[in-house]
Amino acid sequence: MSITIGIVSQKGGVGKSTIARLVAREYAAAGWNVKIADLDIQQGTSFNWQARRLRRAQEPAVPVERFGTVAQALKIAPQYDLFVLDGPPHATMGTLHIAEASQLVILPTGLALDDLEPGILLAHELVRKGIPANRLVFVFTRAGDSIAEEDEAKAYIRQAGYRFVDTALPEKVAYRRASDEGLALTETRFTSLNAKADAVAQSLIDIITAQQQEEEAA
Ligand SMILES: Nc1ncnc2c1ncn2[C@@H]1O[C@H](COP(=O)(O)OP(=O)(O)OP(=O)(O)O)[C@@H](O)[C@H]1O
Ligand SMILES: [Mg+2]
Repeated sequence: MSITIGIVSQKGGVGKSTIARLVAREYAAAGWNVKIADLDIQQGTSFNWQARRLRRAQEPAVPVERFGTVAQALKIAPQYDLFVLDGPPHATMGTLHIAEASQLVILPTGLALDDLEPGILLAHELVRKGIPANRLVFVFTRAGDSIAEEDEAKAYIRQAGYRFVDTALPEKVAYRRASDEGLALTETRFTSLNAKADAVAQSLIDIITAQQQEEEAA
């Protein structure tokens, strides 16, 4: 059994690579054979992150490989239990390809309308091109400390007909520092931040597991 998930967004810098590494790290820790396909050959963010992780010999290892196209990446996907497509900065032709190949498509987003609107437009576009809406899930990244803002963002996504992970990831220097050190969001020095990231990862894992069970039953 091999599962492919994709992380995409309309806007750049919303936390795609961060979420890709978080999910891959949790599955790797559970003993799964995972691989992140870094599709951003210009920046190679996840690839460089892996190099920092390797230098500090951080366990579990989270292998990352760079690919110029989604098609090239997908050739090796069946070799892994979990294959994570870390999408390019902006939605491109490749975005639909990522979504078509993924059992679950994760759309990280900030909470401002400036972030939410393009995210919803991308989701609508994917659905219009044949991706089932229940295969999409939004994750709030870089949240502030306003509960009202968070509630409004959730209502916005709910009204648009999509689901989201209930726990929002706060914008924290410690998360950024962790990434700088080749660590995932569950590996910061702060237990409360690790727990929050773990809650997000666990929600995604639960969705992936349920999705998988549905597919096997079908
Ligand atoms: N919750 C957070 N708190 C603080 N910093 C964050 C958080 N999430 C992401 N970042 C930082 O924001 C920057 C962008 O994140 P990331 O690289 O994951 O986004 P991306 O969507 O993959 O970007 P790109 O579109 O360039 O591929 C990184 O420096 C990352 O460390
Ligand atoms: Mg990225």
